[in-house]
Amino acid sequence: MKFPKLNSIKTVEAFRSRIESLGIELPIDDQLESGQDSPLGRSLSYSDLEIGNRFCILPMEGWDGERDGTPTDLTRRRWRNFGISGAKLIWGGEAVAVRPDGRANPNQLMMNESTVGAIESLRLDLLKAHQERFNKTDDLLIGLQLTHSGRFARPNSKEVEPRTAYRHPVLDPRMDIKDDSKLFTDEELDELVDNFISAAVLAQKAGYAFVDIKHCHGYFGHELLSGYDRPGRYGGSFEGRTNFLRKIAAGIRAEAPGLEIGVRVSIFDFIPFKPGSERSGVPAADGAYAYAFGGDGSGQGIDLSETHQFMNLLKDLGIRLVCTTAGSPYYNPHIQRPAIFPPSDGYQPPEDPLVGVARQMNATAAIKEQHPDLIVIGSGYSYLQDWLGHVGQHAVRQGNVDSVGIGRMVLSYPDLPADIVEGNPSQRKKICRTFSDCTTAPRNGIVSGCYPLDPYYKSMPEAEQVKQLKRSLQP
Ligand SMILES: Cc1cc2nc3c(=O)[nH]c(=O)nc-3n(C[C@H](O)[C@H](O)[C@H](O)COP(=O)(O)O)c2cc1C
Ligand code: SF4
Repeated sequence: MKFPKLNSIKTVEAFRSRIESLGIELPIDDQLESGQDSPLGRSLSYSDLEIGNRFCILPMEGWDGERDGTPTDLTRRRWRNFGISGAKLIWGGEAVAVRPDGRANPNQLMMNESTVGAIESLRLDLLKAHQERFNKTDDLLIGLQLTHSGRFARPNSKEVEPRTAYRHPVLDPRMDIKDDSKLFTDEELDELVDNFISAAVLAQKAGYAFVDIKHCHGYFGHELLSGYDRPGRYGGSFEGRTNFLRKIAAGIRAEAPGLEIGVRVSIFDFIPFKPGSERSGVPAADGAYAYAFGGDGSGQGIDLSETHQFMNLLKDLGIRLVCTTAGSPYYNPHIQRPAIFPPSDGYQPPEDPLVGVARQMNATAAIKEQHPDLIVIGSGYSYLQDWLGHVGQHAVRQGNVDSVGIGRMVLSYPDLPADIVEGNPSQRKKICRTFSDCTTAPRNGIVSGCYPLDPYYKSMPEAEQVKQLKRSLQP
């Protein structure tokens, strides 16, 4: 299935007529506004802080840390770019493992006594870059994302070393799991809870204002949410499946008073997909699918009942910062990061990527509508390309979301938020066209970055490797 490329759309009217032809809800503003009183330039109150505007940098990992879990120059450059972006909310920086077996790759950052100083210095680098560019940092909120990669852990090499919440009928065979040996026991999870709390204490020491207890993208926290048939203290009922979060939150409150907590959560999920005929994505199994948190049981539909219950729980725990996302980059990337070009381990989009953007934005709006007291940050906007600002502005103006999260776009066009708020002309050459090289590279053991558009990555020897890799994958 081929879908028209978005860069052929030159006017708001043409965008609207495309949306209409797709039969989806994705409203857009006619004019992009700038300045501190504009919808995207306006501040956002959180606790006793006025967050300076409505842009948020989403966590973006680069597979480029040292083996000991500290950052490299490439990591630092990315964090400095987060600083010059102009966004006043930094959601997590990137996924940081709470212990060695939880790393998603051998080069993922890791929090422990010996890395805490280096992880603090990333925050300071970001602050310095922001100060130099904007001359103001007291309206900037910076958190750190804490994770265990669970089923998708690759702590030592490209080989997956999964640790799981439950036996999964579709995903277990993909990672050659044939018995219960990869399951975390309840006692092991008690220990993992402690690891999250210790990492949070260190994050506070490193000056981060909040930690994100990651519950998205198929990683461990997210997988637990669909552990409907997991027995014991961490599965089964809603209370059981959220026990992990509740224990971590209670531990952080006790041991790191004053540290704020946020949660990035996949608010809905679908069945895993696989390449079908002509590599177009198709569901990996037929019939009902019971393991989608926020799913309706069909494998491809949404039911936010439990997601709303989860939001109520966050409020009960005194957590107001929520970053919404969906699905997983490993098993259904089209609902998570809509793209016209798939990464090397992906499949051709089974739907116009605009449908994926609208699905995430509309589910996020439903969350914000029922939970107006939460600070809700949305994701999945990069596919909107030239129209990201116009669509994001409409969503914020309507109160459908509090802050527009920027993921891939920050790799290709770091200062897009600053350009919008300052009313500068758009730098079209830097707009992310969802080529997916930033995912293809790490899937093949190469550091992540925007090889097609960022001159720094373009000139690296790895750029040629990525090109050759893509050529070799062409049918
Ligand atoms: C290269 C790359 C690295 C990412 N790293 C993380 C991460 O560390 N933590 C996380 O929660 N999401 C991560 N994501 C997902 C993004 O935060 C975001 O949800 C996704 O890219 C969709 O937003 P976008 O359309 O603006 O790109 C990553 C995505 C990409 C492409
Ligand atoms: S490689 Fe660059 S253009 Fe491609 S998806 Fe990533 S950020 Fe966007």
